[in-house]
Amino acid sequence: SPAGLVIAVDGPAASGKGTLARRLSAHYGLPYLDTGLLYRMVARAMLEAGHDIRDAAAAGEIVSRFDQGAFDEDTLRGREIGEAASVVAAMPAVRSGLIERQRRFAGQPGGAVLDGRDIGTVICPQARAKLFVTATPEVRAARRHKELAGRGEEATFDNILADIRRRDARDSGRSDAPLKAADDAVILDTSALTIEEALAAAIAIVDRRRSAQPERILTER
Ligand code: CDP
Ligand code: CDP
Repeated sequence: SPAGLVIAVDGPAASGKGTLARRLSAHYGLPYLDTGLLYRMVARAMLEAGHDIRDAAAAGEIVSRFDQGAFDEDTLRGREIGEAASVVAAMPAVRSGLIERQRRFAGQPGGAVLDGRDIGTVICPQARAKLFVTATPEVRAARRHKELAGRGEEATFDNILADIRRRDARDSGRSDAPLKAADDAVILDTSALTIEEALAAAIAIVDRRRSAQPERILTER
């Protein structure tokens, strides 16, 4: 196909989609965008400016002046920012203000790997390969618990599990671009998979989509 290889990786919090997307980008030599960081940046700007996180007018204003620029990824990974990100991510003005830069990234000549919640459904509905990465809430909470402990953030497993359930409900329940698998996405449950096993399964799925006939892709549902 004349367009590049676009790989959409969606899924709930701590499902392993970021790790997988990063590994896929290395495997196929494609640029990678973690779209969750965009929502996290908006959330951080809201918190830093002292706005109520539910103030949609302020969030819309921040997005309209948003300059991605350079950012320190590590400071965006915290628990409080993840929670705040899911609040601003439900606002239509925030989502619409971030669409263009994501589509531009996906439109690079060779293609790209993007991960998030709505890549396969809204941002790149024409993506050649779509993965919907999941794992049980308990497995995701255990992964996030370990990850946050490594960052020095002390939170109990139960609190993290509650965070994850609340974020799942908010992300799946919003009316604008809710978290859900695209009709043509392949669901990859990583609950019992190591990172290497998940990567091997994902590569097999992407390679199958790459070699599929275009006619088949157009008619497949
Ligand atoms: O890494 P984790 O899955 O915990 O979070 P993230 O991917 O950084 O996303 C943080 C929040 O941003 C999510 O809970 C979503 O509400 C929102 N998000 C979104 O709505 N759409 C995306 N494409 C990416 C993230
Ligand atoms: O991007 P997302 O929030 O979906 O998850 P992630 O940041 O890729 O993964 C969350 C944590 O789970 C990381 O510390 C990964 O190393 C770990 N992980 C794992 O233990 N097994 C997997 N199959 C995938 C991820």
